[in-house]
Amino acid sequence: MSDDTPRRKAAKEHSELAARITELDRAYYQNDQSPVPDGEYDQLRQRLIALEHDYPALAKNSPSQKVGAAPASGFGKITHTRPMLSLANAFGREDVDDFIKRIRNFLGLEAAEPVTLVGELKIDGLSLSLRYENRKLVSAATRGDGQVGEDVTANVAHIDDIPDHLPDDAPDIAEVRGEVFMARTAFQHLNARQEVLGEKIFANPRNAAAGSLRQLDARITATRPLAFFAYSAGEMSAEVADTHRGFLAKLAAWGFTINPLMETLEDVDQVMAFYQRMVAERPRLNYDIDGIVYKIDRHDWQQRLGAVSRSPRWAVAHKFPAEQARTRLEDITIQVGRTGALTPVAKLTPVTVGGVVVSRATLHNEDEITRKDVRPGDMVIVQRAGDVIPQIVGVVEDERPRNAHRFTYPGHCPACGARAVRPKGEAVRRCTGGLICPAQAVERLKHFVSRNAFDIDGLGAKNVDAFFRDGLITAPQDIFTLRDRHEQTISQREGWGAKSVENLFAGIAARRSISLDRFIFALGIRQVGQATAKLLARHYGSLSNWRAEMIAAQDPEGRARADLTAIDQLGPAMAGDLVAFFQEPQNLDVVDALADVLTVQEAVQPDTTDNPVAGKTVVFTGKLALCSRNEAKAQAELSGAKVSGSISKKTDFLVTGSDAGSKLKKAQELGVKILEESEWHVLVSGDRTGS
Ligand code: IVH
Repeated sequence: MSDDTPRRKAAKEHSELAARITELDRAYYQNDQSPVPDGEYDQLRQRLIALEHDYPALAKNSPSQKVGAAPASGFGKITHTRPMLSLANAFGREDVDDFIKRIRNFLGLEAAEPVTLVGELKIDGLSLSLRYENRKLVSAATRGDGQVGEDVTANVAHIDDIPDHLPDDAPDIAEVRGEVFMARTAFQHLNARQEVLGEKIFANPRNAAAGSLRQLDARITATRPLAFFAYSAGEMSAEVADTHRGFLAKLAAWGFTINPLMETLEDVDQVMAFYQRMVAERPRLNYDIDGIVYKIDRHDWQQRLGAVSRSPRWAVAHKFPAEQARTRLEDITIQVGRTGALTPVAKLTPVTVGGVVVSRATLHNEDEITRKDVRPGDMVIVQRAGDVIPQIVGVVEDERPRNAHRFTYPGHCPACGARAVRPKGEAVRRCTGGLICPAQAVERLKHFVSRNAFDIDGLGAKNVDAFFRDGLITAPQDIFTLRDRHEQTISQREGWGAKSVENLFAGIAARRSISLDRFIFALGIRQVGQATAKLLARHYGSLSNWRAEMIAAQDPEGRARADLTAIDQLGPAMAGDLVAFFQEPQNLDVVDALADVLTVQEAVQPDTTDNPVAGKTVVFTGKLALCSRNEAKAQAELSGAKVSGSISKKTDFLVTGSDAGSKLKKAQELGVKILEESEWHVLVSGDRTGS
C-alpha cells in the first residue's frame, strides 16, 4: 500500500518528530523546562536530521532550520528562475484559427508544412513549480505573481503524485511544473468533515486545494487529499525531449502523474472535435477543468516562438463558457430527508450555466440562508462548480426588489405538518413526524433500494417517487409484491415499454435473496451505517436471531441488552436507537413482511488476515469527522482490530479526531503510534483519495 512507501513513512515520522521537537523547544525556550533528558532530545534531533539528509524537502519549515521556538510567520519566498507565465485565451474556432495562423506567420512555414499541436485539459487548480537538484526535490513554490512565489516545500511532502527523487536520466537541475488540485469526491468528503467540525466550508475544489496547500502547518496539508498533474518545464540544465509529447512521456517515466486525456492535433477541425469531446467528457471527470490548452508539440519551435508580455506564443487556452450566471431566485422550498432533516432548495428562473439549464440550487441549511441573506425575489449568482448540484454564490444586492423580505425558516415539516426542531449545537432542523411523515417514508424507500442497500436495478429514486405518489409502493415490502399487484398498471404507464417492465421485475427478483448486513443497512435505522450493519450481522448471524435479540434487548437490565451494548463497544446510544426501532410496531411489521418474501442469507465470518490492522489494538479519541465513533469502531472490528477505551503500552494505534485531550498526551508519553482520522481510514480501507 502506498502508505508504506519509504517516503511517506519518512514524511510521517518526520512530522511526528518535528511536532515533538517543537514542543520540547517551546518548553525549553519559553518556559525554561526540560521535559526529557538532553541525550534523548539530541537523539530526536539526530534522527530528524538523518531523515532530512535522505529527503531534503522535509527540511523546509523544520525545527532543524530554526533557532528558538518562534513560530514561522507566513511562507518563505522563492524567486522563480524562469517566470511562471499565464496563457492567452481563445473563445471559439476563429480564435484558434488565428492562433495557428499567427504561428505559421511567425515561423514562416510553407502551406504544406503541418503544425502539430498537443491538446490537453486545463486543470482548475493552482500551479506549482518543483525544483530538483541532483535529482532530489529541494523546493516547491506557488506561482505567486509569476516572478516570486510562496515556498510550500514542506506542504507537498505528502502529495503522492510528486516524486521526491528523480531517476538517473534526469538532468542535474530539473524544474517540473503542473497543477495541484483536489478531486471532486475528495472535496465533498473534506467539506462534509469541515461541516461536522464547524470549520470553513470551501466553495469549490479549487479553493479547497489552495486553502489546503497554503497551510502554515504542513501537518494539516498532510491530511488533505491533494493531487498533482505535471504538464510543463521550468529551468532544465539539459534538454529532455524534442517534443512536448516526448517530454510528458519522460515526466511519466520519472514518476509524475500525467493527465491521460491529451491528443495530437493536426488542424482546426481536429482541434474543435477534441474540444467538443472534452466538453462532453467534462461532467464525468472527477476534477474540475476550465478549458483546453493547445501547445505546439515541437520544442525547437516553442523556443523560437518565445513569449510575448506574460504568455508564451506557443500555447493558448481555449476557455469553456462561464460557469456562473445571474438569475432570479423565485422561491425557497424545503426538502425533507430520510431522517427528517429539512434542507432548503432554491427555485430559480431557469438559466444556462456552463452549457446546462439550471432551475434549482442547494442552499445547504438554515444558517447558510442567514449568512448569505438570500431572499426570495433576489437576483442571485449561481455557479456550477465541481459538484453536480449548482450552488448560490451570492446576491446582487443592488437589484434586490423593495418588497423582498427575509426568509423565515419553517418550524413545521412542510410534508406532514409535525413540529420541526433544531437541537442546540446542530446545524440541521428535523421533522418530528417519524413514520407518519410521507416525505420521510419516500426517502426511506429510496435508501432501501440504493446502491449499498438492496441496489435494485430499474428502481431508482425517480421511479420510487412516482410509485409512492401513486400508491403502488408505500413500504419496502410492497416492492416484492409489486408484480402480483400492479404489473398491469405499470405496463400501461407512460414511458414503460415491455422491456423496461421486464427489467424492473428482473431487478426486483434478483434481490429476493440478500445478505443480512445489506438487509440491516437498508432498514435505515439511525446511526446504523454499513460497517455497523456488518458488525451486527456478524454478531447475530441470522435475521431471526437478530430480531429476537433486539426485542429481548428492550429490557434495559436484561442479558440481551448487555450483549448488544457489549458488541465490540458499540455503546449505549447505538443500542438505544436499535431498541427504539424495534419498539415501533410498524417497523416490526416491515421486518416481518420482508422476512416473508425474502431469503435473508446468514452472515459468514469475514477473513481479515491480510488487513494491516488485524490483531492490532486501537483507541479512538476526540471528535471524529469522517464517520460516527460507532461506525469507526465497527469498521475497526470488522477489519480484525480490537478497540479499547484506554491507552496502555499494549495500544498499537491512537486515532485522533479534533480536540483530542489526555489520551493523546498519554499516547505520546508511551510512544504509541498516533494516526489522524484520515490516515486511519486509509489504513483500514486502502482508500487513498479519501473519497
Ligand atoms: S501550460 C507557459 N498546461 O493555466 C504556460 N497550464 O492560464 C504554462 N493550467 O498558470 C502553462 N492546466 O496554472 C498549462 N495543461 C495545462 C494547464 C495549465 C492548467 C493553468 C496554469 C497556468 C494557467 C494559465
